Amino acid sequence: MNPIRPRRLRATPAFRRLVAETRLHPAELVLPMFVREGAGDALPIASMPGVVQHSQDSFRRALVGAADAGVGGVMLFGVPQQRDADGSGATDPDGILNVATRIAAQEVGDALVVQTDLCLDEFTDHGHCGVLAPDGSVDNDATLVRYRAMAIAQAESGSQLLGLSGMMDHQVEAVRDALDTGGFAGVPILAYAGKYASAYYGPFREAVDSQLKGDRRTYQIDPANGRQGAREAALDEAEGADIVMVKPASSYLDVLAEVAATASIPVWAYQVSGEYAMIEAAAANGWIDRRRAVLESITAIRRAGAQAVLTYWAVEVAGWLAEER
Ligand code: PBG
Repeated sequence: MNPIRPRRLRATPAFRRLVAETRLHPAELVLPMFVREGAGDALPIASMPGVVQHSQDSFRRALVGAADAGVGGVMLFGVPQQRDADGSGATDPDGILNVATRIAAQEVGDALVVQTDLCLDEFTDHGHCGVLAPDGSVDNDATLVRYRAMAIAQAESGSQLLGLSGMMDHQVEAVRDALDTGGFAGVPILAYAGKYASAYYGPFREAVDSQLKGDRRTYQIDPANGRQGAREAALDEAEGADIVMVKPASSYLDVLAEVAATASIPVWAYQVSGEYAMIEAAAANGWIDRRRAVLESITAIRRAGAQAVLTYWAVEVAGWLAEER
């Protein structure tokens, strides 16, 4: 028998803790939040138990909760009441996302990083991430004009990190230029570089009352292609992104590991709505240990190379981590 016995280092909780390569910390978790326009209470999102479309009041309370829990940031999404072809609510200073951003910057802007989704899909009546050409296709370069304006509106509202999730070619370059020439050279860009055309965004579509009829396969990456994720990340870094992200997370750990190995800027991952819904649904049926599955899923995403993780469990996990210490 050879003398090697890997079990030695697994024998006690103290040993396992000492040799753990990956650890979770609240500062590396970012909480995505939905804020709806109009009066009334927060509304539950059926396919995401525990997640809501916030009212302005519940939003303020949740922001304070996130800051108290020590999470690293919040990523804001707006749910508007009116939509149009150009997504004009996205650039209106009184549009819901910009209003929510001002609230967040004021309430918790010193305690965590206030981040905003920079994409038109919540604001367009057709639900696409950009504006449409006469033939109905998503017009890449016309969309960049809208993203530039959206970037300025978000920066003026106090966003501290712009999350470019639209997957238009050259979006990072365009937004970087708009910010730099508009007096916001200090505002960084989080590029959703490796963003796949995924079924796991299903519950998100309910969360933002998406109007989308078709799919996003002409701009988001085909799940069959790993190399394109790494290529998009390299392009976004070259265009001036400050952070790149892979999304979804759990089904794309190979892409994440590849991007982490090749990028020279921070790499994040987004554990998306469908990943959340699957674990919640299995746990609700008693088929899976909820807390263990949540922690294992986020640990695996970190282990694969994500330095920070966007997750709807951010605040709850931060609470567990505090308990453990
Ligand atoms: C685009 C955007 C989406 C998500 C984050 N930003 C939807 C999409 O691309 O279809 C999905 C996040 C999730 O599913 O949790 N605004």
